[in-house]
Amino acid sequence: MTAAVDPVKLSKQEVGKAAAALVQSDSIVGLGTGSTTAYAIQFIGDRLKSGDLKNIVGVPTSFQAEVLAKQYGIPLTTLDAINHIDIAIDGADEVDPQKNLIKGGGAAHTREKVVDYLANQFIVVVDGAKLVDRLGAVFPVPVEVIPMALTPVTWAIETLGGKPELRMGVKKAGPVITDQGNMVIDVKFDNINDPANLEKILNNIPGVLENGIFVNCADVVLVGEVKDGQPVVRKL
Ligand code: A5P
Repeated sequence: MTAAVDPVKLSKQEVGKAAAALVQSDSIVGLGTGSTTAYAIQFIGDRLKSGDLKNIVGVPTSFQAEVLAKQYGIPLTTLDAINHIDIAIDGADEVDPQKNLIKGGGAAHTREKVVDYLANQFIVVVDGAKLVDRLGAVFPVPVEVIPMALTPVTWAIETLGGKPELRMGVKKAGPVITDQGNMVIDVKFDNINDPANLEKILNNIPGVLENGIFVNCADVVLVGEVKDGQPVVRKL
């Protein structure tokens, strides 16, 4: 008896592979964070190993991306050493019909925002469950906060009508600490009618470093799905 294949995993693998296929030789590649992008990083590494892809450097968006890139043999650089990024590949927690995103399920949205906005082409890789009619439908907005400002930022978010929850660690006692040494408040809003405005309002609260709303950033959204048992990738 063969074990049933997890359709979400299959979708993530296939969409990661499709994004990795878009990377060209002699380019600088933003490497996103999360379980879907992890497959893209793996497939970019496979292409380098086979000789199909040559002379690329990656810019990681997190320690996770850095570790995976090293594991799969992708040379890395930093933003101090380059003057552009050709293509970035990154996941998302929600995607609306205008290709606006909520990101930060992995607490990496601050570095992701820097890298993804810098890229000439930003490819988002998601499975079909991430598509929503309106941002905030399912996922809270992650807000990275410097630790000493946690209490006043929490009040300010409540005043805006959000329901804040400090993100707690898994297999680690206490709150999640980001790659920058900060904390994350996940904020549930009943309705996000104007994502661009909410993004600005949240970032204007003193003590907030960055939030997970990405507006006018994604160029292409690749969606992985399983239809009739077969993985398919479509482009938004
Ligand atoms: C990391 O902070 C996030 O922005 C991820 O890119 C996002 O959570 C998607 O992750 P998965 O691909 O694991 O769903």
